[in-house]
Amino acid sequence: MTLCEYKPGLENIPAAQSSISYVEGKQGILEYRGIAIEELASKSNFIETVYLLIWGELPRKEELDAFEHEIRFHRRIKYRIRDMMKCFPETGHPMDALQTSAAALGLFYSRRALDNPQYIREAVVRLLAKIPTMVAAFKLMRKGHDPVQPRDDLGYSANFLYMLNEQEPDPLAAHIFDVCLTLHAEHTINASTFSAMVTASTLTDPYAVIASAVGTLAGPLHGGANEEVLTMLEEIGSVENVRPYLEERLQRKDKIMGFGHRVYKVKDPRAKILQQLAEKLFEQSSGDKYYEIAVELEQAVEEKLGQKGIYANVDFYSGLVYRKLGIPTDLFTPVFAIARVAGWLAHWKEQLAVNRIFRPTQEYMGTHNASYIPIEKR
Ligand code: SDX
Repeated sequence: MTLCEYKPGLENIPAAQSSISYVEGKQGILEYRGIAIEELASKSNFIETVYLLIWGELPRKEELDAFEHEIRFHRRIKYRIRDMMKCFPETGHPMDALQTSAAALGLFYSRRALDNPQYIREAVVRLLAKIPTMVAAFKLMRKGHDPVQPRDDLGYSANFLYMLNEQEPDPLAAHIFDVCLTLHAEHTINASTFSAMVTASTLTDPYAVIASAVGTLAGPLHGGANEEVLTMLEEIGSVENVRPYLEERLQRKDKIMGFGHRVYKVKDPRAKILQQLAEKLFEQSSGDKYYEIAVELEQAVEEKLGQKGIYANVDFYSGLVYRKLGIPTDLFTPVFAIARVAGWLAHWKEQLAVNRIFRPTQEYMGTHNASYIPIEKR
């Protein structure tokens, strides 16, 4: 007995009751625990936003200091995980390296303590603290270099950029990166968060939950789009080639990476903020060729597809900011994952509170009473 008709991709089908974030697609509204993303991007920071998402309210100063302190001192990864990463192929994609190493964390920590708040808090701290270290480590190790140890005197975002580029970032770069993490932290029941929830509902360990979500985020229709956007801007090569390129791609029925959204039918509010961050970064230097191409492309796509509700999404400008911060293109999606660990953990915790294992049904389209035909007669 099905309660509602089948909808491909479960489009508009509620899969949970949640109070973590809210998206309204027609007006382009995004709120984390009721607070507008624009407020958080301008007044908060990533670690405070993580606390808000996971524990449901803005922390008092002593709560935030304690949380930030715990994360700061759990950043190092086991040498056995580093040794394992040394065996990863140089050509391996960083999202595969991240998924493997995130799952490997589960080898070191007990699995069956989900009813223990201390275990929950430790898992939250470990994953938030160690995921950036593993992303930065793979970037160096794939070239045969030793990874850089985290610096306890640096904040979350500055430390990641330090481990990645082996030099302390300037304050503006660290601040802009921190805002990017806040913008990418959570987005209701998107594909990777849904993966996290389904995995969580079987009561497996949080490391397997995060590994599921990382694998889902890697796809080019989801988190992987930000990497594809930069490749597309490089293919376009000049402002003059924007419209001919767009025409040809639409003729081929190819999706334009960084555009469109299952929920937003206007410009993604995160894209607006990321575009402002890009402009702030490029103010410092004499502009950026790819930024000009991006602005022209956004205009051209709006002319062509705006009436279908297809506008720039979060992935369109993020890659330009990350490139300017010295982040390699194939690390754009791992950076998205670093931020989204917050949302995945928030939904993991919320799922455990009222858990019921996910087991949807189907509309059977196959046959019945079929006969087995011996191979010699097929
Ligand atoms: C993220 O869910 C989330 O919240 C995700 C996310 C998050 O924070 O977690 O916001 C992050 O994943 C952002 C999206 C990143 N992906 C991309 O930029 C890839 C390109 N975008 C498309 O693949 C697409 O827009 C999706 C996957 C994002 C949404 O797809 P839908 O809702 O399933 O829409 P659809 O594929 O059914 O398309 C509807 C129509 C189609 O045209 P028709 O066949 O009806 O004529 O719109 C067209 C599509 O061809 N269309 C596009 C398009 N996106 C949709 N045409 C060209 N380029 C596009 N990008």
